[in-house]
Amino acid sequence: MTIEKLTESIESEEYRKRFGGHFHELKWLYAELYGDDSLHFDELCEQMYRWYCERRDTLKELDREREANPDWYKKQDILGMMMYTEQFADNLEGVRNHLDYLESCNVNYLHLMPLFDSPEGRNDGGYAVADFRKVRPDLGTMDDLEKLIKECHNRGISVCLDFVMNHTSEDHEWAKRARNLEKEYMDRYFFYDNYDIPSQFEKTVPQVFPTTAPGNFTWLPEIQKYVMTTFYPYQWDLNYRNPVVFNEMVYNILYLANKGIDVFRIDAVPYIWKTLGTDCRNLPEVHTIVRMIRIITEVVCPAAILLGEVVMEPVKVVPYFGTVDKPECHMLYNATTMCTTWHTVATKDVRLLKHQMDILSGLPKQYLFLNYLRCHDDIGWGLDYNYLRNYGIQEIPHKKYLNDYLTGEISGSLSEGELYNSDPRLGDARLCGTTASLCGIEKAAYRHEKEKLEKAIRFDLMLHAFMLTQSGLPIIYSGDEVCRQNDYSYKDDPNKAEDSRYLHRGRFLWEDAEKRNDPDTIQGRFFAELKKMEELRAAEEVFASDAEVWTADTWDDSILAIIRHRGSQRLIALFNFSDQDKTAWLNEGYEPYTDLMSGELIVPRDVFVPAYGFCWLKNNRY
Ligand code: GLC
Repeated sequence: MTIEKLTESIESEEYRKRFGGHFHELKWLYAELYGDDSLHFDELCEQMYRWYCERRDTLKELDREREANPDWYKKQDILGMMMYTEQFADNLEGVRNHLDYLESCNVNYLHLMPLFDSPEGRNDGGYAVADFRKVRPDLGTMDDLEKLIKECHNRGISVCLDFVMNHTSEDHEWAKRARNLEKEYMDRYFFYDNYDIPSQFEKTVPQVFPTTAPGNFTWLPEIQKYVMTTFYPYQWDLNYRNPVVFNEMVYNILYLANKGIDVFRIDAVPYIWKTLGTDCRNLPEVHTIVRMIRIITEVVCPAAILLGEVVMEPVKVVPYFGTVDKPECHMLYNATTMCTTWHTVATKDVRLLKHQMDILSGLPKQYLFLNYLRCHDDIGWGLDYNYLRNYGIQEIPHKKYLNDYLTGEISGSLSEGELYNSDPRLGDARLCGTTASLCGIEKAAYRHEKEKLEKAIRFDLMLHAFMLTQSGLPIIYSGDEVCRQNDYSYKDDPNKAEDSRYLHRGRFLWEDAEKRNDPDTIQGRFFAELKKMEELRAAEEVFASDAEVWTADTWDDSILAIIRHRGSQRLIALFNFSDQDKTAWLNEGYEPYTDLMSGELIVPRDVFVPAYGFCWLKNNRY
């Protein structure tokens, strides 16, 4: 249909304008993937308008507000937290009852881990979705979700949810019908009668879970077919070559957007397009799809924005921002900085981290990254090995060193991590553990080593200060604000025992949270300091995401110096990754700066930084 025909019945002037502005590009992109399939394209356009019409007035109001202020999510006072609903407060109502706690943590962006219906024991932490429109019954109902979102919005908290688009659970209705050999539904996945084509894919496609779910295909004996399963065998890859899959998944997004979701975390997005002979990662068609989703949400529900989950090196991540004219994701994870930080913890050598900071500060300021220390996933060692090779460091032995250090195998290390998906074939393994346990709080507290405990707490605070120093949106992993240690109980649960990511997915300990106001406890001290840092970050313009940022030399490879500059403000941030007290030698003039944490005046020439400590020095007269 032509645009005239498609807009004939549109009564809303606002919608007509948004749709008209994007129609030709959308049509073009759709044709790139699906040829001249006007049947499905017209249906998509009609449905988009239907979802717009069904959107609540308050959400339409928010759409307008955010259209007028498109940088709303870049404000420096936004602080995120991610959590499992069930671990934090049993269910959605529980989360709603604990919003005061989140506010006391300065949190105004809440990422709830997947909460849609998914089968017990075969759910990959909720990432195997059986129904995108039904909340897992033990967590509540769609009404509870909507109620929670409304209450969050009343308090100025935005809500982020995952949209798991690469696959469905094998219990999803489509998968069930495909298993019944209904062609229409089989066409939504990848089925093969024998191993010929799967074996060709296996030659070029790497494995996501080499130990816990080897291979990219699963044999289904009852129907004598292979199905593509990049992740777990119960997560069936969707076939986006089929326009019905694209359309239906878009309707699921729009359905959820109409429940008020502010941020869609597009899970595992690099994987969604498969082509034989490639590694099936980041193919050009993936970008076409993400761009179409961006257009569609901008037309129907512009209040909702996209966060891409691309856990890869920067050259692969950055294209997901799209271009200035044709943007894709609004935000992306800063996975490389996260793993480089843990590399720095283990090596006490900041050179790679400094290099990484320099790369990031060279990127356009409109790119917004999500910064984090830990999340629900493992730490994968996606480091810049080309750079490390300059220092004679090789990938495989280096990964072994990092894993040995962070699992406490190396003498002097207080870390308590566990390996994840150790692949002896490649000599590769990833790592799990909470921030507090990786910093040594668990081991030092257990051994009653007071001085070491002090250092470990300081280390944990320093890493949070480093996260808060970076431009972008900082996300705290629920529990980290009260030093949650590893939870070993997953080993007793047969559904979890194989997946060591559950080590850092433990229950939120409310008894620890209660201690947050008691300065005589670890939790109380940590919470107060963290809060102070968060409040400084929100208040001082030098932390704005559009500040100029660069690194400086300190003449010591264990101290990282980051300089931020905005307006007349300048901040010198110093991070000591070594277990020794140190002096950072700087060449930043003789003007005194204020230490934001202590209030002391300091000339930035020879600055004392305690073992595992940090300082934020600010000057207003630049
Ligand atoms: C993402 C999630 C991870 C999950 C995977 C498969 O990478 O972060 O937890 O296992 O997608 O959905």
